[in-house]
Amino acid sequence: AEKASLPVVVWLHGHECTGCDESFIRSQSPLASDVVLNMIALEYSDTLAAAAGAPFEHHLKEVREKYAGKYLLAVEGGVPMAEGGIYCMVGGRPFATALKEAAQGAAAVIEYGSCAAWGGIQAAKPNPTQSLSVSEVISGKPIVKVPGCPPVPEVMTGVIMHYALFGALPPLDSQGRPKQFFGNRIHDTCYRRPFFDSGMFAEKFDDAGAKAGWCLYKVGCRGPETYNSCGNLRWWNGLSYPIQSGHGCIGCSSNNFWDMDPFYER
Ligand code: SF4
Ligand code: SF4
Ligand code: F3S
Repeated sequence: AEKASLPVVVWLHGHECTGCDESFIRSQSPLASDVVLNMIALEYSDTLAAAAGAPFEHHLKEVREKYAGKYLLAVEGGVPMAEGGIYCMVGGRPFATALKEAAQGAAAVIEYGSCAAWGGIQAAKPNPTQSLSVSEVISGKPIVKVPGCPPVPEVMTGVIMHYALFGALPPLDSQGRPKQFFGNRIHDTCYRRPFFDSGMFAEKFDDAGAKAGWCLYKVGCRGPETYNSCGNLRWWNGLSYPIQSGHGCIGCSSNNFWDMDPFYER
């Protein structure tokens, strides 16, 4: 495709840890480098761009104007609203201001990660910075939530590739997540499920059941109520995911998962 016909993407970073970027760049299929260099025109990203500083902020302004109504806005991170938004400053301004500006000219918005989709860990009680999800701050645009802390790499690239190929967001479920990646519970695809069904549970992390790979439900696994693709896609090119490394799912793609304590009990 001609570079000019590629979808223009502006990718903002707010209140976050950048773990979502770390996940994205490890996508194997498609390779993140293919997505960024060949499938989209990534005009702005604070973390992936070589440029920085005032000229880069000026470039963002130019992109917003030149492609008004046409660009895809990807957002990583929550939006802290307390005290005028000073808890996350970008280019010398509150992130909330930059976000609202960028959202105005966006054709559609991707909320990458549980920070953007739900407010994130920093929204844990008592949420001192009043961190909100992106869709609590902007409105009037098609929005897709791609939760996970972080989301699975191929889920991240899959959503943006859907937009690049079809020019629209993928079909969404009732919570605004793409059905193709959030249609199953972790429990539905779990390879430990036969142990659950047989009533064979690890009772502690170091007991014989844990060593034998039995179900982690009783040590807090939230797989039965968590919707995500970890069990079928797995991480790092299908290598593993939390349950496979011996830890229950903490529901990192679920709204409010940070306040669902205690983590290690049911
Ligand atoms: Fe980091 Fe998790 Fe927020 Fe992604 S969703 S930026 S991994 S805290
Ligand atoms: Fe379900 Fe978790 Fe047990 Fe897997 S480990 S079967 S997801 S409860
Ligand atoms: Fe998160 Fe659970 Fe997957 S903790 S990474 S949704 S297995």
